[in-house]
Amino acid sequence: MSDSERDPLEIIDEVGVACRRAIADAPSADALQQVKNEVLGRNGRVAALMDLLKTAPRELKREIGQRLNQLKQELTETVAVRIADLGGAAAGGRRREDVTLPGRAQPVGALHPLTKIERHLVRLLASLGFEVTEGPEIENEFHNFEALNIPANHPARDAGENFYLHGLPHLLRSQTSTVQIRTMQARTPPIRVCAPGRVFRPDTVDATHHYMFHQVEGLAVDRGITMIDLKTTLLTFFKALFGSDVELRLRANFFPFTEPSAEVDVLFPGKGWVEIGGCGMVDPNVLDAVGIDPEEYTGFAFGLGIERLAMRQFAVPDIRYFTDNDVRFLKQLD
Ligand code: DAH
Repeated sequence: MSDSERDPLEIIDEVGVACRRAIADAPSADALQQVKNEVLGRNGRVAALMDLLKTAPRELKREIGQRLNQLKQELTETVAVRIADLGGAAAGGRRREDVTLPGRAQPVGALHPLTKIERHLVRLLASLGFEVTEGPEIENEFHNFEALNIPANHPARDAGENFYLHGLPHLLRSQTSTVQIRTMQARTPPIRVCAPGRVFRPDTVDATHHYMFHQVEGLAVDRGITMIDLKTTLLTFFKALFGSDVELRLRANFFPFTEPSAEVDVLFPGKGWVEIGGCGMVDPNVLDAVGIDPEEYTGFAFGLGIERLAMRQFAVPDIRYFTDNDVRFLKQLD
């Protein structure tokens, strides 16, 4: 009996059975791809069945059409399921597990280098008697400026120099000196605290500038504190950090909240003097602003850039590396 004499629906079912088997038997993703072309391709077996429609008697055409569509849809789905089963076309076949292979090491997270350095600095300061404290990163103008003897209209308060919060009398703090004020408001002397944290300034980002960086602030307030205490504290701190041959230089400067004020420079052998931060004797106006009698008490303060210290210590050439989060860099400082 030739095909043209046979029941077209029977032929469709027969081809369906053969196609299902071919799809199920394909041993690899590549082989399956080929079977898919043979079955569902433009000149494939299903397409060939369409000829049955042309020759079929009129009253059967509708049923044949439906059966063909059903078959096509079913085979398309079966192929998709097998492709997924084989792990996608690229996998080239089901993976055989080799149980003798050594296990895969799980990557373990680590502290960010800046976090580690910050903790190290704070531990050193704690060993010198400075209690660790913190303040908020969103500050008001009183703590960031006013109480630090930076009056309204001072250029340091310009909108272009700070990240003011839109429509609010708040800003992202531009310095950790804010914590000096918060501490002196909350405590009475003797005070000896350090405050690490992030600060924010709309600086153009380059190898040595960023809009977000870290500082550690120090503050000591008591009766009879002098500049000698300041210099001795800083020198002891830097010796612990960089070794006993380190040299410290206080270079006269101006900060509104200290008088006298100085830049803190550290001499790195072979590299010269590097500015690390600022310091000075707490300005009497600042003590007044927080209700501490400047006739009775004096204090010193300093603020150091943590990235600056870290870049020096680990020869990091670009401050942006700290925030790029490239694990190749992070691992080097691990
Ligand atoms: N807050 C200053 C800055 O960010 C650094 C500084 C200078 C902090 C002198 C101090 C200080 O505590 O006494 O540039």
